[in-house]
Amino acid sequence: MRPVRQEIMWQAVLDAVAATGPEGPLDVLDVGGGTGGDAVRLAGLGHRVTVVDPSPDALASLGRRAAEAGVGDRVVGVLADTSDLGEQVSPRSVDLALLHGVLEHVDHPGEALRSVAGTLRDGGVVSVVVAGRPAAVLARALAGDFDGAAALAGAVVEDWDLKVQGPRRYVAAELEALLAAAGFSASAPVGLRTFADLVPSAVVDTEPGARERLYALERLVRTSRDFSAVSAGLHTLARLDLR
Ligand SMILES: C[S@@+](CC[C@H](N)C(=O)[O-])C[C@H]1O[C@@H](n2cnc3c(N)ncnc32)[C@H](O)[C@@H]1O
Repeated sequence: MRPVRQEIMWQAVLDAVAATGPEGPLDVLDVGGGTGGDAVRLAGLGHRVTVVDPSPDALASLGRRAAEAGVGDRVVGVLADTSDLGEQVSPRSVDLALLHGVLEHVDHPGEALRSVAGTLRDGGVVSVVVAGRPAAVLARALAGDFDGAAALAGAVVEDWDLKVQGPRRYVAAELEALLAAAGFSASAPVGLRTFADLVPSAVVDTEPGARERLYALERLVRTSRDFSAVSAGLHTLARLDLR
């Protein structure tokens, strides 16, 4: 098994694919897909993947990775960001859009979601992963950064200043409100990496079977709101609400 963190994040991608259905190759848009770890694995499963990212270096790595994996014909890299998605991706051409680890960094999360919505086909799904705020507060407190923890605990996504506060961290209700405002019907966010970021790697990497048992524990609690509230990541799947 790969490191637990990687396995959890990949499983979130597979959950998104399964929610999109039907079986068969999907047109996937990976917004902020970076160096293409997910894109190349998805292409290996037969899907056609477009990665949109503003980093030329990341896209160069993506190209190399895709070629090495023999899936260069199913992976396209586009140098752009969420603000010019509408010009770079054909409207209504995407079955599944991944927005993993991106709404923390964009200037306007609501606008980013509306741009993604414009690319989706009828019945298409957007999969959103964001960093959880309570887990980030906990991490700062455990590291002895009590002022940082207090500042983050009192922050809200609506008034976030990326330059001063760093990447945005969310609570579930903020993510749900953003998706609803962009016209999506979303599943309740589930927790990703509730424990994995807290357990020392020496524990999981030395004890036989520990990775598998930690992974099973993560899957066990992921749909519990009590646990997702303190998870490092929040994952939600959403469809355009056409009512
Ligand atoms: C934390 S990484 C996440 C990478 C990948 N999606 C994952 O889940 O591992 C954030 C990525 O978002 C990209 N990014 C930053 N601002 C963006 C924007 N406005 N639009 C699209 N991508 C952006 C960065 O270049 C980077 O590749």
